[in-house]
Amino acid sequence: MEHLRERVRASLEASDAGLDTSAYEKLCGLLRYVEGDYQAESTFTRLRKTLGRARRPLCYLAIPPSLFSTVVERLSKTGCADGARVVVEKPFGRDLASAQQLNRILHGVFDESAIFRIDHYLGKESIQNLLFFRFANSFLEPIWNRNFIESVQITMAEQFGVEGRGKFYEETGAIRDVVQNHLLQVVANLAMEPPVGTGGEALRDERVKTFKGIRALTGKSLVRGQFRGYRDEAGVNMGSQVETFAAMQMHIDSWRWEGVPFFIRTGKCLPVTATEVFIRLKYPPQQLFRETDRKPPNHFRFRLGPDRVGIALGARAKKPGEGMTGEDIELNVCRQRGDEEGAYERLIGDAMGGDAALFARQDGVEEAWRIVDPILTKPTPVHEYDPGSWGPHEAIPLVTGIGGWHNPVEHE
Ligand code: BG6
Repeated sequence: MEHLRERVRASLEASDAGLDTSAYEKLCGLLRYVEGDYQAESTFTRLRKTLGRARRPLCYLAIPPSLFSTVVERLSKTGCADGARVVVEKPFGRDLASAQQLNRILHGVFDESAIFRIDHYLGKESIQNLLFFRFANSFLEPIWNRNFIESVQITMAEQFGVEGRGKFYEETGAIRDVVQNHLLQVVANLAMEPPVGTGGEALRDERVKTFKGIRALTGKSLVRGQFRGYRDEAGVNMGSQVETFAAMQMHIDSWRWEGVPFFIRTGKCLPVTATEVFIRLKYPPQQLFRETDRKPPNHFRFRLGPDRVGIALGARAKKPGEGMTGEDIELNVCRQRGDEEGAYERLIGDAMGGDAALFARQDGVEEAWRIVDPILTKPTPVHEYDPGSWGPHEAIPLVTGIGGWHNPVEHE
């Protein structure tokens, strides 16, 4: 118990708001710690006793999937699940079949409305901002479709490697770790139709509808990579074929997005840590100023973190002087924000209040697995890349037709 108090103190001290001693004392007075074996029913009997008169307990299951059925069954048998809500950490299964199995286990005890599948990307300030920016403004709607948008790229780059999580990563790989969940949620926020409101199930309905329109991925539009040195990490197999980099093209079969390619790229040990969306608009109908061989001049760029949230609009403007020649400019709005902590704070608060809008729903999770399942079951080659590079060269041809990859920079 002393240990737990210390943990709480240390994390409060490290937080932006710092430690408020009287709030800390009050919180510690409310903390209880129940220790025990997951297999033993007595653990849960003691937990039930400790919960006392709590009517809406929130059970947060950050446990290995293999323990799910045992823990859920014990929670139910001992009454801990009565009136309770449950938060489930990702990864939610490791493919469609295992996700369906987990859902069956949970539904044996909890109603869908009491299940909160956490994906911290949905709670991020920057991801919420995407939704806000799209639906709080009028100038975007007329151009936010296949008539004006040429391509969409989402890059989630991380400068660091697997940071001692080699064993976990061997089971997961980049596609399961961040594509099936975080990056598909970004696609959903970019591509969804306007929801009928923001309350209840409206947002989740639109997200799931977007997923339904995404074609299942195939090996043809996928490049997997592994950074040189990954196999020397603790917990990693010598001959590992697990990807630490993945780049792919997606198609959304919908009225709005027909023919617009969506590219997703993510990797460990890349040159920077940054997540960015880059949306290229089509050429203007005429080139009045005879600029040769130019890429389409306009783009939207959304910086989704980690340290700041930004929106930039790329345009072509006249260079001062006699000639009618231009230069690339960006109109840029940028806010500093470290938002990892904020995402969890927001989501745990929502779960305690029973608001599931920012959590993945069963049908959404299953659709997301449907999209990635074929590339998980039919493995493609894994190409080595140097740490500090933008991944294997094989990823370059994926985007040659659309002006190449946009690489986010660390400092602008
Ligand atoms: C986690 C993944 O879910 O998200 C990590 O397991 C990844 O591999 C992390 O680094 C990224 O989250 P964020 O908030 O730092 O972008």
